[in-house]
Amino acid sequence: MKFFIDTANLAQIKEAEDLGVLDGVTTNPSLMAKEGITGQDNILKHYVDICKIVSGDVSAEVISTDFKGIVEEGEMLASLHPQIVIKVPMIKDGVKALKYFSNKGLKTNCTLVFSPGQALLAAKAGATYVSPFLGRLDDINQDGILLIEQIVKIYRNYDFKTQVLAASIRSPLHIVRCAEAGADVATCPLSAILDLLKHPLTDSGLAKFLSDAKKFTTVNS
Ligand code: E4P
Repeated sequence: MKFFIDTANLAQIKEAEDLGVLDGVTTNPSLMAKEGITGQDNILKHYVDICKIVSGDVSAEVISTDFKGIVEEGEMLASLHPQIVIKVPMIKDGVKALKYFSNKGLKTNCTLVFSPGQALLAAKAGATYVSPFLGRLDDINQDGILLIEQIVKIYRNYDFKTQVLAASIRSPLHIVRCAEAGADVATCPLSAILDLLKHPLTDSGLAKFLSDAKKFTTVNS
């Protein structure tokens, strides 16, 4: 399973890249705003800065909602850098645009997906990635992991090439459950990736090894 980081924070992207486990980045307008990146020139420059840190795919979201606008904006974003993936919302004109981009060989990420039927449409339209938002479903008491399992099953039934990019991940358990479900990618906050490291028995075991090593060093010195 690939690990993407879900942030526009350059320091966090660098930290995940330095860990050696990062395969790409997803952003959205809310994440850009959180970093105080505003104005088109700054936003476009920020995407390029992200591409300079990582070597994998970087999703950049369109804010147009009509076919012509999505196509113009998506082509402009894709021209910024070869790593850019055009992130398109799951709406009628978005589906048309996914097909258009697919025919042109441009990579896409269909975002704001909350049902298997939406994921089926994204795959039919030739999306490179589909982003089911599992955390937001959990937030409203629906089973986000079940949605990942359903999409993986549907795509395998018909050998769709669209990759399942589990999004809106909140915890390390979400990441593990997505891996069990067969998601191709998990896009996560840095905290969830780092929380995968944690286990109390690792901490107590290491403390014991280090204290025993100190005794051994003292005896033999
Ligand atoms: C995915 O690409 C989205 O940017 C993201 O995962 C949404 O997560 P949230 O529900 O935590 O905002």
